[in-house]
Amino acid sequence: MNIKELIQETKQRIEDIQIETAKELEEFRLKFLTKKGELTELFNAFKEIPNEEKREVGQLLNQLKQSAQGKFDERKEVVEESVGEEVKYDKTLPGVNVSQGSRHPLSIVQNNMIDIFKQMGFSISEGPEIEDDWHNFSALNFPENHPARDMQDTFFIDKDISLRTHTSSVQVRVMENEDPPIRTISPGRVYRNEAISARSNSFFHQIEGLYIDEGVSFADLKQTLFLFVQQFFGEKTKVRFRPSYFPFTEPSAEMDIYLGTATEEDYRLTKGTGWLEILGCGMVDVNVLKNCGIDTEKYSGFAFGMGVERIAMFQYGIKDIRTLFENDIRFLEQFKSLG
Ligand code: DAH
Repeated sequence: MNIKELIQETKQRIEDIQIETAKELEEFRLKFLTKKGELTELFNAFKEIPNEEKREVGQLLNQLKQSAQGKFDERKEVVEESVGEEVKYDKTLPGVNVSQGSRHPLSIVQNNMIDIFKQMGFSISEGPEIEDDWHNFSALNFPENHPARDMQDTFFIDKDISLRTHTSSVQVRVMENEDPPIRTISPGRVYRNEAISARSNSFFHQIEGLYIDEGVSFADLKQTLFLFVQQFFGEKTKVRFRPSYFPFTEPSAEMDIYLGTATEEDYRLTKGTGWLEILGCGMVDVNVLKNCGIDTEKYSGFAFGMGVERIAMFQYGIKDIRTLFENDIRFLEQFKSLG
C-alpha cells in the first residue's frame, strides 16, 4: 500500500469506529491521536516521500487529522453529557443541606432600634471611622487641652487624626451639610483605647441621634426617648433622667431604665440600685450649633447617644462583651430565630 492508500484506509476505519462510552473514547484517542498513535506514524512516513508528492499528500494527511480530531471532539461531548445526565437526574440521592446563617446579635438589636426611630421620622446617616480632630472633638466643644478629652481614651493615628471615639462626630458632619429641620440617627463602630475585659472592648457600637428644628425643647427630648424605650423595652418600662455632663450638650443628662433587683442578674447589672443606664443625651450646646453653621436664633435641638453592646448584653443575658466579637458559631447560632 502506498501512503495515499494508507491514508484512505485509515480514514475509512476512523469513520467506521463506534464510540459510545468513555472507555471507547479513550481507546480511540490512544490509537490515533497521541504521539505514538497511527497518525503520528503517517506523518513520519510523510517525511520520506518525494518532494513533488508532498503537496497533495500533505493535504490528505491534514484532512485525515482534522476528521479524526473532529470525531473525537464530537463523541467526547456526547459521552460526557450522558455521564452528566446520570448524575444530574439521580432522584434517589439525598438533597444537599444548605446551612442557613443568622444575623449577629448586635445587628439584630441595632436593626430593631433603627426601625423604631425610622417610624418617628428619623433618617440614617453615616460618617468615617477615621476622623479628624475637628469632627470628633473641637466642633463638639471639647476645647484643646481640656480634661474632657480624657473622658474617652483615644487611639491616635496622627496629631489631628484618630479613630472616632463616638458617633457624635457624625452629628457635626450632618449639621455642616444639611439645613434644619434635621432628624437623623447614626449607627456605627467606635474605638477606645481601653483595657479589654468582660465589660469593655477596644471597639464597640453606638447609635447617635440628632434632632434640630425651630422650638425644640427638653420636653421633646424626653418624649422621644420615652417613646423609644416603651417600644424597645416594653410599654411599662420606667425611666429616669439624671443630670450629667457632656461638652456638646447643655443641659446634659443620662437616662436609666428600671429593672429592679428581684433577680440576681438585675441586682448585679444595676449594682443594687435597680436602674440601668442606657444612654447620654442633652440639648445641643449653642457652641456646637454655631461651629456647624446653624442659626442659633432660629434653631435648637437635642442629641443622644447609646451603646449597642450594653443593651444587647442586657437583652440576651450575655455576660462577657468579648463573646460578641469572637465569631464562635456555637454562640452565634443561638440567635438564629431572632434575626
Ligand atoms: N458621645 C457620648 C459618648 O460616647 C454619648 C452621648 C452623650 C451622645 C450625650 C450624645 C449626647 O449625643 O447628647 O459617651
